[in-house]
Amino acid sequence: MASDEDVSPPTHSYLIGQRDDIIRASRVVTSVNGRDVLVLHHQGELYALDSHCYHAGGPLQNGDIEEVAGRVCIVCPWHKYKISVCDGEGVYQAVDPSVKPLKPRWCFKGVKQRVHKVTEVKGHVYITLNTSAEHLESDHYQTPKYRETLHRNRK
Ligand code: FES
Repeated sequence: MASDEDVSPPTHSYLIGQRDDIIRASRVVTSVNGRDVLVLHHQGELYALDSHCYHAGGPLQNGDIEEVAGRVCIVCPWHKYKISVCDGEGVYQAVDPSVKPLKPRWCFKGVKQRVHKVTEVKGHVYITLNTSAEHLESDHYQTPKYRETLHRNRK
């Protein structure tokens, strides 16, 4: 999270709320310029990422937080995929059957979930959407069609 000495919010950022309120809530899902974003607090840090899981649109706001392979990950409640909240990497365990004894190791799928920049200015939290042209799998669930369907099914 960028923070601190900044005196004005970044250009093209969106005010999410007061840091203290977000910390109290622990997780906030909000719509930012047509995108559903999860802002979460974990051990003093704020993170922002697309709220619908890249795998099948699961509600990441209901996931547990685990530290995996040195990364803070959110575990999707639907199929337990682990996603790094820092960079959106998909994290999984694999075993090389040719190596005995079998020993699982952590592997990375590459960035799957879009993460966004969080900035704090004088106790206010802002998000700057990551608008890189690179297609990420979580983009699939940010189209109007999927957002509407996912919102309807969660009511
Ligand atoms: S929808 Fe998230 S793991 Fe399947």
